[in-house]
Amino acid sequence: MRNKITVVGGGNVGASAAINLAQKELGDVVLVDVVEGIPQGKGLDMAQMGPIEGYDVELTGANDYTPTANSDVVVITAGLARKPGMSRDDLLLANYEVVKSVTEQVAKHSPNAILVLVTNPLDAMCTVAHHVSKFPKHRVIGMAGVLDSARFRTFIARELSVSVENVTAVVLGGHGDTMVPVTRLSNVSGIPLSELIPAERLEEIVTRTRNGGAEIVKHLKTGSAYYAPSAAAVEMVESILKDKKKILPCAAYLDGEYGIKGLFVGVPVKLGKNGIEKIYEIKLTDEEKAMLAKSAASVQELVDVLKPKLQ
Ligand code: 2OP
Repeated sequence: MRNKITVVGGGNVGASAAINLAQKELGDVVLVDVVEGIPQGKGLDMAQMGPIEGYDVELTGANDYTPTANSDVVVITAGLARKPGMSRDDLLLANYEVVKSVTEQVAKHSPNAILVLVTNPLDAMCTVAHHVSKFPKHRVIGMAGVLDSARFRTFIARELSVSVENVTAVVLGGHGDTMVPVTRLSNVSGIPLSELIPAERLEEIVTRTRNGGAEIVKHLKTGSAYYAPSAAAVEMVESILKDKKKILPCAAYLDGEYGIKGLFVGVPVKLGKNGIEKIYEIKLTDEEKAMLAKSAASVQELVDVLKPKLQ
């Protein structure tokens, strides 16, 4: 039997994720959106791409959750995207309502699913989904680090004119301006970055990575990035459904790891058929620890705003 994957949100991120999931034949895909006709139309269009691309999976669209029943993985992309000048945090209250109602439906229809959150502000939205679904922590995972490290890897590969595949980047922390690209542990085919790029230039690349999402919002004007974000979510889904056990940077619920308790923050995790199968706690320098603590504090600030709603 094929896996079943629901993608909630038929906008740019959701639709791109649905196509990508189908092209990789990871399972049958149900695209859900509140706007009547959009998921049905996009689903049918994508299904008709199957004979051309050669994928044999069902792609359907719906406005309700009945067709999503018993999904193995649910990717939640629904919500507002940023406009120029907005930070991800500006979306907090509006997207809280969206993620809350989506999660209620998802938990009811797919009680055993693994949730992959994409909606911003990402780390806070993971808290909402975790709280509302009451799913165990290993089944609620946020997509941020795969995207942030892909941006870092892109910039480093361009800087050195080497293959992006040779670049390994470690990014920790929340999906915001305080994210922590750990340059000390990032490398190009095992060669430390410090031996390849002067410190000052590396700092510029780190800054560009931190602002990577905003840079794209500024170009697009009407929304935010979607090709790389959706591909990042799909890499996570693939590792789960194929039980590949890839180690990827994801937002995970920390219960004391890295000195952080009761908060979703980006850390390296092993993703397999059970969701998060292991959280890796890397030894950090004092400076890195301080940066991570600062990033976690900014996630905590958002969660505190939602606290009265999360009782
Ligand atoms: C980004 O960083 C949308 O948060 C996403 O582009």
